[in-house]
Amino acid sequence: MPPTHARALDAAPVDPALTRSFDLRLARYGDDLRAGLRACYGDRADETFERVLRIVAAAMQDRPEALRGLDEARLLAPDWLQDSRQIAYVAYADRFAGTLRGVEEHLDHLESLAVTHLHLMPLLEPRPGESDGGYAVQDYRRVREDLGTMEDLSSLASSLHDRGMSLELDLVLNHVAREHEWAERARAGEQRYRDYFLTFPDRTEPDAWEASLPEVFPDFAPGNFTWDADLERWVWTTFNAYQWDLDWSNPDVLCEFVEIICFLTNQGVDMLRLDAIAFTWKRQGTNCQNLPEVHQLTRALRAAARIAAPALAFKAEAIVGPQDLIGYLGRGALSGKVSETAYHNSYMVQLWSALASRDTRLLATALGKFPPKPASTTWASYVRCHDDIGWAITDEDAADIGLSGFGHRAFLSDFYAGEFPGSFAEGLVFQHNPTTADKRISGSLASLAGLERAVRSGDGAAIDLAVARILLLHAAMLGFGGLPLLYMGDEIALLNDPHWADDPAHAADNRWVHRPEMPWKGVREAALDADRDAPRTPAGRVLAGVRHLIAVRTSLPQLHAAVESQVVSGADRRLLILRRDHPVSTMAQVLNMSEDPVELDAGVLSGIVGDHPREAISGADWSLEVPSITVQPYQALWFLGPEG
Ligand code: GLC
Repeated sequence: MPPTHARALDAAPVDPALTRSFDLRLARYGDDLRAGLRACYGDRADETFERVLRIVAAAMQDRPEALRGLDEARLLAPDWLQDSRQIAYVAYADRFAGTLRGVEEHLDHLESLAVTHLHLMPLLEPRPGESDGGYAVQDYRRVREDLGTMEDLSSLASSLHDRGMSLELDLVLNHVAREHEWAERARAGEQRYRDYFLTFPDRTEPDAWEASLPEVFPDFAPGNFTWDADLERWVWTTFNAYQWDLDWSNPDVLCEFVEIICFLTNQGVDMLRLDAIAFTWKRQGTNCQNLPEVHQLTRALRAAARIAAPALAFKAEAIVGPQDLIGYLGRGALSGKVSETAYHNSYMVQLWSALASRDTRLLATALGKFPPKPASTTWASYVRCHDDIGWAITDEDAADIGLSGFGHRAFLSDFYAGEFPGSFAEGLVFQHNPTTADKRISGSLASLAGLERAVRSGDGAAIDLAVARILLLHAAMLGFGGLPLLYMGDEIALLNDPHWADDPAHAADNRWVHRPEMPWKGVREAALDADRDAPRTPAGRVLAGVRHLIAVRTSLPQLHAAVESQVVSGADRRLLILRRDHPVSTMAQVLNMSEDPVELDAGVLSGIVGDHPREAISGADWSLEVPSITVQPYQALWFLGPEG
């Protein structure tokens, strides 16, 4: 007999009309919730289970009618995120449109791009002053004052829903701002809240932990612990000194977050981006990232969320090495039980690597080692985001193709900092770590892809190549068969923001170079240009090209995310060839990562899509009954086999 609501809860706060749904959902997800809690909380798991159920039952009862409708709709279309018509757009509310109401006024721009999903960067109340772009949250139940109110957020969510779009927000769960009430109360001496954090009276323990911990911000926040004069203790601060890590081994912390998740989804939030999730569990002697308990916690949170609000999905933000990435979609017994989607950091890094080296072998090696992803989950494919690019390339993968990992990572940093001879890129070095020689890179997609340098030189041919590179990267993202994340401004090829350091709260963090304000006049001009038969400006050409690629993507069920792209290796190293075996038809994509025309043996493609495929981007029928085809510089070709 499945556990019933009456047996699971002492008091029954659930509306009788909802009892049946509650019981069904509990029968479906109760085991996951319990197993996740047991793996993390041992003796306290059962009591935590009861507490979580009470929270989700109350949330279910509070859930607005319209959102219950959405729950039902998504239960009927459990693959909603995998549909090739899904296009996500990522923006800072203030940099995009000033306020949440401003965002609502600019939804037409998103509609013109066929966007279906909007990720608004951190907008919950941050600490005053420096806040790591909003990732130091002071109050999870309030919107940042200058952006609007919680009512504005709900109103935006319902406008989005009316247009068939969904809303994603960040859920920062590894840490809170030093000014968060929990931290204030910890400093005031309340033991309950002291237990929410990891604090130490002297350096003994921090030193022991440091022995195996890497540094996330070695430049402006070295080390992982900060002395707090009020608390008179060392506080665990993985990121900035003002971001206090939470102690997730305390089930009270989990219960707080279950409440926050329920609160946010009941405002209309459809997806939560689980920020810095990799860091949430700590164990001495490890690097305190990607520990098994991280996934068990996610399992428990997801089970709780699916009971309260089945419409809600999770996106894991784990910018980790390739071998650890798959765990965020679920490995082995956790397959399909954690986040619905996760950033494909490895694909992103490998695309930039292939573009710099004009060589796709490393990409093929790295992606070839990925175990299959659970069929119900979706990679988030992206090329740029608000963060820097860290070269998550392992020494083993590099060695497989005869490269030194260290040397290749150094090459990529030099290349994208624009320091390598012949480089087309203009980026900035972020967080140079002299101990490891690690250098990450900031910069906008267009500047990293060569447009800034080309425009400055006034060389028309160089501009053409840069535009082609930008569109190639978009094709790689849109064709991968995941949830593509367009980053604000990339659709009009925005260059690095020369004024990024003007705001004193940003001056120390050069990631602001690629977080520019949306220039609406420029957007309108680009849109007018894009509508011409032959757009003239780089912005107009990129916008027209991106819109076209999106239109093609959304017309192709072959790009449904349940099917994975497989890298086909062995052809010319300058070409990335992806194979997709979708039941509607097979697909072979060819992306030329170089500025050379490249000959490709037609048999490589005809073996996948037959002799007479249609090329979807141009809409042309091709014959592959030829010895070879020529792939133009930076060209993307999406061949479709006959429908089966
Ligand atoms: C994530 C965010 C990044 C932030 C960090 C700490 O990695 O993307 O911008 O600095 O988490 O919250």
